[in-house]
Amino acid sequence: MRRIACLLTVLIMLLVSCSTETGKDVVLLDTGWKFSTGDDMTWGNPSFNDSGWDNINPMETWEKQGHKKYDGFAWYRIRQVIPRSMIKTAFLKDSIIFRLGKIDDCDQVFLNGALIGENGTTMAMNSLPSADFNKIWGKWDLNRNYVLSVNDPRIQWDKENVIAVRVFDFSGPGGMFSQPFEIAMPGLKDYVRFDLTSSPYDFEGENILKKNIVIKNISGKNEFKGNLVIRAVEQEGGIGLYTEKTGIDLTPGLIIDKQISFKTSFDKAVNLFICFTEATTGKQICDTVDVPRILTPKPPKGPRITGAKVFGVRPWSPFQFKVTATGEGRLKYTALDLPAGLKINEDDGVITGVLKKKGEFIVKLKVENHLGFCERDLKIVVGDVISLTPPLGWNSWNCWGLSVSDEKIRQSADAMKSSGLSDHGWTYINIDDGWEYMHDKDGNILTNSKFPNMRALCDYVHSLGLKIGIYSSPGRKTCGGYEGSLGFEEKDVQHYAAWGIDYLKYDWCSYSEVAPDPTPEQLKYPYQVMRRALRNVNRDIHYSLCQYGMGDVWKWGASVDGNSWRTTGDIEDTWESLSLIGFSQDKCSPYSAPGRWNDPDMLVVGRVGWGPSLHNTRLTPEEQYTHITLWSLLASPLLIGCDLTQLDAFTLSLLTNDEVLAVNQDPLGKQAIQVKKTGEYEIWIRDLEDGSKAVGLFNKTEKAMNIPVEMKALTLDGKCQMRDLWVQKDLGQVCRHFEMKTWPHGARLIRLSK
Ligand code: GLA
Repeated sequence: MRRIACLLTVLIMLLVSCSTETGKDVVLLDTGWKFSTGDDMTWGNPSFNDSGWDNINPMETWEKQGHKKYDGFAWYRIRQVIPRSMIKTAFLKDSIIFRLGKIDDCDQVFLNGALIGENGTTMAMNSLPSADFNKIWGKWDLNRNYVLSVNDPRIQWDKENVIAVRVFDFSGPGGMFSQPFEIAMPGLKDYVRFDLTSSPYDFEGENILKKNIVIKNISGKNEFKGNLVIRAVEQEGGIGLYTEKTGIDLTPGLIIDKQISFKTSFDKAVNLFICFTEATTGKQICDTVDVPRILTPKPPKGPRITGAKVFGVRPWSPFQFKVTATGEGRLKYTALDLPAGLKINEDDGVITGVLKKKGEFIVKLKVENHLGFCERDLKIVVGDVISLTPPLGWNSWNCWGLSVSDEKIRQSADAMKSSGLSDHGWTYINIDDGWEYMHDKDGNILTNSKFPNMRALCDYVHSLGLKIGIYSSPGRKTCGGYEGSLGFEEKDVQHYAAWGIDYLKYDWCSYSEVAPDPTPEQLKYPYQVMRRALRNVNRDIHYSLCQYGMGDVWKWGASVDGNSWRTTGDIEDTWESLSLIGFSQDKCSPYSAPGRWNDPDMLVVGRVGWGPSLHNTRLTPEEQYTHITLWSLLASPLLIGCDLTQLDAFTLSLLTNDEVLAVNQDPLGKQAIQVKKTGEYEIWIRDLEDGSKAVGLFNKTEKAMNIPVEMKALTLDGKCQMRDLWVQKDLGQVCRHFEMKTWPHGARLIRLSK
């Protein structure tokens, strides 16, 4: 039975991976492109002589082909015969698609001198070129597919056509860089679309999983009849959990939104497959997704104290630390041996006051509910260094981008509380770029109309027991083009302190106008200026350096009193970005210490978007386990980047595992090191305060694999107790060698103790 199920899975996988839609109905545009920087609208004309232009490979950005650091306009041109015979062999004969891959950042495409599309959207025919490009984030990542009717007079069938692409690059890499480059007749995949990712998974009581699947025919003209198969299959053993086979008639424009539900234990790896087979041609289109596994157990009903075990504060600074705990019903918080000057609020666990002298105190925390009580020590260190564990919080950028507002910040703070996240230690609500207006004639920083009253907003966030962060740049402008702090550092910080800000992200960006090719001293300088300003106010403000790792910032971030420093460019919600950043952090490990954290950028789980419209992260569920596991081992600040008002059960489970978060928050503050790296897997190990070790096993391949672990390589010998931190279960004893199963791009996190 098991065997048959396995065979079935293999068969389905084969079906999924076979695309039946290539043939003579495609003309490749991989080679033959000409290129020039600059801008001239006559370059779109077919008669323009481009023979003096450079040749260019559309697979690579222009930076990689002799135009280092070039931002601005540039043109690509190619000549291509489009054979009418394409229509004859095609399955669908009414239109033709110009596929130009992805373009960084914006584009307008001209066919024989006439505009056929821009910015990655399909154009209405005869539309006029826009005067210029708007600054729209994220367009670079769209596949350019420009569709024309086969009767469009702009196409010269069986003759040479000139395709000219006008590109504008705002910053970073520029131009064409990603396949496909082709002219093609449309196939089933251009019209029949599945959406397996937009709707959340509903995990219900008796192990019932519910999920909405959308099947669309986006063609306005073509009808497709055929068979639809939907299957859910358990990865281990290939056991079928759900099968549906139906004949369907996809009439033009039809959208089917159907719910499927099946029984499964929520911690099992399950694949969901969907296939449509068109009846007359047998052409097929398929898709598959991994169903998220929920590993984090529900917290116990009795009280459990979570969050940081050590808290740093400077003498005389206002003290705010919230004791966080889970547990059913009303919780009562008390603290024994609180140093003079501090008090705890019994109802919400917030400790406030002022400590005037340097020193260390051990406070005995107690949390009670109707089922019992729980106790834990909190170490308070009054000294020069703050943020003795990495900040846990949320930041607006990966979610709202520049569309952040006062209202969205309040909603996020509310959701941090109502979702229960704050019970697990999540504390900061950070406003990223987009709040600034200008400095007035007296040098006061003014907020823009989206932030009518910053002081009131900070008070509101504090009233929930949370902390609040803000963003600025040492340059004239921020990365988003808003007002920076150059020349106003002291005054800006005085405003931050008066408002009640607890965290500052200070983003290099337009400081490159001041120091285009910065020396090591120039890299430090603006951060020293801001550091002085921060030390001149009587408030502990976490100082987060953001300059993408320039000059190996991890080696000197502490010398400018940074509490954390970004070690990389901006993260994206893709495996490429996540794995490139995450697995390259070993070089920074020696420099991480309490209050001095390497920051490989914010989290990309949940619904993200960098602007007003959001999408579910493009990371698979297993990649999200890798993300949280690795970032916890790296002792990275954990700043959630998604919309907190739309958290689904899976995302919440990822962010509320107290044993995983305890690794991130471990008071020893040592970042994990990479102990094994092969092309297929990696092993990272982190020393913890109690002498145990947290070990992360990472599968970098597309297949499930057993990762072998030699205890010697972990500098551990002899018997060890092993605990699986995601499921919070002891796994027994290990001695010399063990193996653990990992899913594609997935991770395991264990703790080994003597
Ligand atoms: C840079 C930073 C991002 C974000 C934006 C805001 O790109 O790296 O994290 O702060 O600026 O404009």
